[in-house]
Amino acid sequence: MQMSATEPRFSFGQNWLSFIQHLDEERIQAAERSLKEFLGRDDLGGRTFLDIGCGSGLFSLAARRLGATVHSFDCDADCVACTRTLKDRFFSNDPAWTVEKGSILDENYLDRLGRFDIVYAWGVLHHTGALFKAMEFTGKLVKPGGLLYLAVYNHQPCWSNFHRTVKRLYVNSPWPGRFLILSLYVSFQVLKGLVKDIILFRNPLARYRVKKRLRGMSVWHDWVDWVGAYPFETARPEEVFDFFRKRGFILEKLKTCGGGHGCNEYVFSLPEKAERK
Ligand SMILES: C[S@@+](CC[C@H](N)C(=O)[O-])C[C@H]1O[C@@H](n2cnc3c(N)ncnc32)[C@H](O)[C@@H]1O
Repeated sequence: MQMSATEPRFSFGQNWLSFIQHLDEERIQAAERSLKEFLGRDDLGGRTFLDIGCGSGLFSLAARRLGATVHSFDCDADCVACTRTLKDRFFSNDPAWTVEKGSILDENYLDRLGRFDIVYAWGVLHHTGALFKAMEFTGKLVKPGGLLYLAVYNHQPCWSNFHRTVKRLYVNSPWPGRFLILSLYVSFQVLKGLVKDIILFRNPLARYRVKKRLRGMSVWHDWVDWVGAYPFETARPEEVFDFFRKRGFILEKLKTCGGGHGCNEYVFSLPEKAERK
């Protein structure tokens, strides 16, 4: 579903600007671990890494720490500013990490980027307003012999339209409306987690600590991101698989969210002699 260019969008960067103030070594290590585990590589030395929709810049930082030469871009100026702040903090004046403003839907911009050993687009393409076009352009940025690491929202026949409506309402509302929607959503999430933990005799705080360990993200910033993140599209795992298989990619790894709400994660490889369409 293409959205109109004039429709309001969520300001991801505003959320990330607040997140990076809480960035600590534990979160950075969690981000590194998530890259290493899913890519199946402990060291990215000698590889080029493209971070599409870099957001806070955390995963560009993690890839750079793992030895990759990194290029980060995002269409949101605040995200670019966040990523530059991280670069200045941890890799000041490092020519092996470049950051700029750009869109995955802008073919002229993409043409001058070249191709990369690892292309990373985690939670990005479904927020562009043109998911399949973004997937097409993303695939073209992978070098033969390279890897593509994607996370795309799972399609839920009953829920996806409802989620889109909530997000659309949020970005189109003045701040009191946004505050109300966010408060309702957060209260619902806290209550739902609490009831589940009580029934299962689990520590109700443990789920929040696990979140930090998973990808280094923060529960609060993920909640804000979830409520507002519009445009919003979804895809079934088989749609994403078929799309890239037809373009010569091989699925190396898949982690689904079990049919529920969340992102399905994919690693595809592009063989050296792939027949590209
Ligand atoms: C949910 S955030 C994910 C950020 C980061 N990849 C991560 O894993 O934390 C989605 C990001 O996609 C960016 N984005 C949305 N549309 C884009 C586009 N057309 N080109 C580049 N980035 C885009 C947003 O600005 C935002 O930073």
